[in-house]
Amino acid sequence: MNRGLILPSAGVCLILIAFAAFRGPQDLADVDARMTVAADDSTGKASSAPTLVGRQVCRECHAENFALHAQHGHASTFHLVSQTDLAETFDGQSFDAGEPYGTYHYHAEGEGRLSVSLPERFEQDRFPLQYALGSGHHAQTMLTLTTAVDGQTEGIEHRVTCYSDGRLALTPGHANKTPHDALEYFGDSSRGEPLQRCIYCHTTSAKIVGETIVDLVSSINCEKCHGPGSEHVRAARLNPTSPPPYSVGEPSWDTESEFQLCGDCHRLPRSISEKEIRDYPKLLARFQPVGLLRSRCYLESDRQLKCTTCHNPHQTIHAIERSEHEQHCITCHQPEVAEHVACPVSPTTGCIECHMPAVELDEGLQFHDHYIRVHEPTLRSSQAGG
Ligand code: HEC
Ligand code: HEC
Ligand code: HEC
Ligand code: HEC
Ligand code: HEC
Ligand code: HEC
Ligand code: HEC
Repeated sequence: MNRGLILPSAGVCLILIAFAAFRGPQDLADVDARMTVAADDSTGKASSAPTLVGRQVCRECHAENFALHAQHGHASTFHLVSQTDLAETFDGQSFDAGEPYGTYHYHAEGEGRLSVSLPERFEQDRFPLQYALGSGHHAQTMLTLTTAVDGQTEGIEHRVTCYSDGRLALTPGHANKTPHDALEYFGDSSRGEPLQRCIYCHTTSAKIVGETIVDLVSSINCEKCHGPGSEHVRAARLNPTSPPPYSVGEPSWDTESEFQLCGDCHRLPRSISEKEIRDYPKLLARFQPVGLLRSRCYLESDRQLKCTTCHNPHQTIHAIERSEHEQHCITCHQPEVAEHVACPVSPTTGCIECHMPAVELDEGLQFHDHYIRVHEPTLRSSQAGG
């Protein structure tokens, strides 16, 4: 194979530049400390626009929500690789991704940093792996910011993902990709709006500047959903029993507000093509609000059904028993209540398997189809036994 054709020399340089320009870890503890000070500063005076105070401040008065949230995927969906043990875990490992990539080799670089090489193509060159997305409940994928030849920031989502069972495999959606330049041997590139969104959906606050992120508050913390809390904290300290309404306590907070909040990241119909919504392909199981919004449970319950009917937004689903979820169904489908429509097949158990079955997508990732309905007979009979 002629390396020169596949690999213009500029590509090799890009990797070297990217590595040379990679900066050291940014200390998250510092960010938290700074925010705590900001909250203390604001106790005396009302400031015009509320600012972020950090989740440690919320812990003071909402210890229970804090403890629950800490276990949720939301609380650990974005890390600097250098602040995790990923370098130790990956060091010395390799993964054969097959054609056209070859075998990736991972190297600990000291101070928690990690890099990857593809010796068959790029010999000793190493590509740094900067951020880790995903809590690991399902999977973790690494992302690196680099500078493209035109000076714009480019994000490289690594080709290889670590799944919850510890297995390395291609990143979801990365099968059958053709690398266009050297960097794309290491991952898919994105820039502009899609790159901003990628980081937006996994962090509380982040601003991309060149090859790094400044003002980073990692993962989805209290204030991503409730809004900057400095004013609430100030008011709660002055009036500890009944501070003025805040966020979900506002009179204007309704079902629609909640769909907008959760759907901003879990996806609303507006981010999906009309044709896809009509066809409802399997992959839409991943976009829970899209399914729920077309369910008769939502449409015919005066649109009362919302995410928090079934999910405590602070508690991970991994801590919930199936039967608890089924209790939520039964609330509206009680056989003994005349105005309720009960199940003619199984009125008290098994609701999720038959009406919200798990759908397997790429690489064994499973999502529950939130379009609650009576499924095709084939699916139904194969599910009925389990
Ligand atoms: C000094 C104590 C204190 C701190 C710090 C504090 N809160 Fe509160 N918060 C309260 C009190 C008191 C209430 C009203 C009673 C209740 O619901 O527990 C409240 C209510 C709320 C509510 C319900 C909405 C409402 O208007 O009833 C939310 C949401 C909330 N807090 C979020 C937060 C978040 C997010 C933080 C961190 C940014 C935070 N709180 C920090 C004391 C505090
Ligand atoms: C800022 C983006 C964002 C918002 C807003 C958001 N989510 Fe998430 N959610 C995520 C991401 C990212 C994950 C994946 C976490 C991981 O890495 O495991 C997730 C995971 C989840 C999970 C599964 C993980 C677990 O531990 O249980 C549930 C359930 C969930 N979200 C429900 C909600 C609900 C309900 C709302 C609205 C109240 C909401 N989310 C709002 C981005 C968001
Ligand atoms: C529109 C918001 C959004 C964008 C943009 C987004 N994610 Fe996510 N991501 C989510 C949500 C929500 C989940 C939770 C799983 C789910 O329901 O799809 C998630 C889950 C994940 C996971 C955990 C594994 C899994 O599939 O559950 C990884 C890893 C991940 N995202 C990486 C990325 C990377 C890398 C990018 C950008 C290149 C990105 N995401 C862009 C919202 C987003
Ligand atoms: C994914 C979005 C999300 C995150 C993250 C989140 N909340 Fe909430 N929170 C909500 C929603 C939605 C409600 C309203 C629940 C309802 O209507 O049943 C709520 C309700 C509350 C309430 C009032 C009801 C209650 O449970 O006491 C408090 C207080 C609160 N949140 C505090 C916090 C704190 C503190 C954190 C961080 C440790 C946090 N929240 C993180 C979405 C979120
Ligand atoms: C807020 C109340 C509410 C909740 C909670 C709820 N449903 Fe429903 N559901 C309804 C209403 C109302 C209808 C329409 C009933 C009718 O008149 O046929 C419906 C219809 C259905 C249908 C028939 C759908 C069709 O397309 O024919 C199924 C199946 C169903 N629900 C299952 C469930 C399951 C399973 C759960 C729990 C995961 C659940 N529901 C939770 C209110 C609810
Ligand atoms: C009628 C009950 C119900 C409602 C309403 C509901 N969910 Fe779920 N959700 C479930 C069940 C059941 C599971 C599977 C739990 C398990 O794994 O045991 C689930 C799982 C999830 C997961 C984990 C990934 C997956 O699909 O398995 C996410 C994320 C999620 N829900 C988000 C949402 C969001 C966002 C909303 C609002 C648009 C919502 N859910 C509304 C019942 C519900
Ligand atoms: C073994 C699979 C199975 C289980 C378990 C199951 N269902 Fe069903 N359900 C069905 C089938 C099949 C139908 C359609 C029956 C028909 O049309 O004759 C149905 C119909 C329904 C309907 C529509 C009834 C109507 O008259 O329109 C509702 C509501 C419903 N189920 C709710 C539930 C709830 C709630 C649970 C859990 C308590 C549940 N189902 C458990 C298979 C199941």
